[in-house]
Amino acid sequence: MDKTQPIFDRLWQDYIEQNPQARKTYDILVKEGEVVQNDHIAFRTFDDPRINVDVLAQPFLNAGYHKSGEYIFEEKKLFAKHFEHGSDPTAPRIFISQLQIAKFSQSLQNIVKLVVDKIPVALLESEDLIYSGNSWGLPEFKVYEQLKVESEYAAWLYVYGFRANHFTVSVNALKKYNTLEKLNEFLKSNGFPMNDSGGEIKGSPEQLLEQSSTRAGKVPVMFKEGVYEIPACYYEFARRYPDKDGKLYNGFIAKSADKIFESTDNRNS
Ligand code: NI
Repeated sequence: MDKTQPIFDRLWQDYIEQNPQARKTYDILVKEGEVVQNDHIAFRTFDDPRINVDVLAQPFLNAGYHKSGEYIFEEKKLFAKHFEHGSDPTAPRIFISQLQIAKFSQSLQNIVKLVVDKIPVALLESEDLIYSGNSWGLPEFKVYEQLKVESEYAAWLYVYGFRANHFTVSVNALKKYNTLEKLNEFLKSNGFPMNDSGGEIKGSPEQLLEQSSTRAGKVPVMFKEGVYEIPACYYEFARRYPDKDGKLYNGFIAKSADKIFESTDNRNS
């Protein structure tokens, strides 16, 4: 974990500062005596070649990760790849998706181009891009609202930029709350709202992966027009099952993730 730990520490620090709800969730699990291990960490981007999945993946490839899977999310118009660490099985999987902007309106495409044009060139070439958040300046609330009509994903990315969209607790590594049913009940009884779009638990043991997530808490964000409360990031929980060869499933399920993506959707909160 020598090369990877500093990356995750930096991403985690930003994530819990941005998401008080995720920090509280983490804290109550630790208080229960659980060891919180990350199943995966997810990023969002646009498919502009200057900032696409392959660009964001570079720091992870340099730290010993390799590409392991590819996914298409028809409904959300996304393409994604996941990466695994070559030698450390406890290192979290990295999941990076990109919005296929050509499938959206000209006006959305224009906004994305304006945003990417504003990212400093030195940053585009730096490994710091994955931590850089929004480097294109104060967002406009009216643009956020306009993007949201077409794609909540685009609107979230326009405001928050490059940072972990979510961390995911490995339920396999928990002792007391070692099923999603038990964990979800525990979290709800502590007042954490769960995303129930498509049911609280997405996937099944037959699909070798079950996932659930909190609904993103709202945080005050500064826009050009003033401060508005909008959803931040969510916290996810994943339980993996062994395949017929007894090997733990390492992939992702497009249909489940389509619903999980809605965890930052205003309309669900
Ligand atoms: Ni995820």
